[in-house]
Amino acid sequence: MIVMRGWLNRDVISILDFEKDELEHLFSLTDKIIEKNMNVGKPLDGKIIATAFFEPSTRTRLSFETAAHKLGASVITLEPSISSLAKGESFADTMRMLDNYADLIVMRSSLEGAAKLAAEICEHPIINGGDGTQHHPTQAMIDIYTIKKLKNRIDGLSIGVLGDLKYGRAATSFMYGLGIFGIKEIWLIAPKELMPRDDVLLTLKKFNMELHYAENISDIINNLDVLYVTRIQKERFPDPAEYERVKGTYQINLQLLSKAKESLIIMHPLPRVDEISYDVDATKHAVYFKEASYAVPLRMALLMLILGVEK
Ligand code: NCD
Repeated sequence: MIVMRGWLNRDVISILDFEKDELEHLFSLTDKIIEKNMNVGKPLDGKIIATAFFEPSTRTRLSFETAAHKLGASVITLEPSISSLAKGESFADTMRMLDNYADLIVMRSSLEGAAKLAAEICEHPIINGGDGTQHHPTQAMIDIYTIKKLKNRIDGLSIGVLGDLKYGRAATSFMYGLGIFGIKEIWLIAPKELMPRDDVLLTLKKFNMELHYAENISDIINNLDVLYVTRIQKERFPDPAEYERVKGTYQINLQLLSKAKESLIIMHPLPRVDEISYDVDATKHAVYFKEASYAVPLRMALLMLILGVEK
């Protein structure tokens, strides 16, 4: 029997900390929020949510802030470049201050393990909006939810993950999420240099997942029901020469899609750079903007569960 640890006051550091049943529960609350057109009253009236993003963000920060506002919470935002961090204050002291002010903190850092460290320092729940190359749990929740919503199932689909599987935390968390949902095989599609790190492969294998490898998307696109595309994480390459070797090595375009199943869906955590050509947006395959639209209701559900206004 799966023992639910419950959502109340839970930190969200890695998708690996969650059971399938817990994620299903989150998804069913997300469904209800969407049914109500996101008008669920103001259950978080009086609560304060802090966002602390030490790395660029559009969707993650703003969709969390939108979710918080819709639920009636107030939002405070740390701007690292004009905070006392710029005077040399430590990360730990900064997080302690936010913990004094807020009921929950959503954060992002380029440093692996930063969210875990924050969770050790802070009394209030921490939601990891991305820590370096490691984890992006709430993006994975949105991604898995998108597949369920658009395909009505997760089992039995042929799923490919394309792009920077080495440095991309969204792709990594997505693959872990598939493992939690019992997916038995996936296609890893990337130039050799961008295949997942050994620790990630090991974790996937612990789920008894069979991993298929392809260097070229055109070789296997006709097999796939779901293709998860990611950008090359230029900013995370220790060596610019390494980036130069792989840049522009893959792109989804109309010509390639002529080989795909009619029902193929193309997902992407966004931002897109050049890995999906813009004319793909108008095809029925493109679901990445739909996927992004689930961020607000899913993050509303998450905030409600963690802050205990919904069980
Ligand atoms: C991703 C991230 O920050 O990891 N963006 C997001 O939150 N949707 C993906 C990326 O930056 O490539």
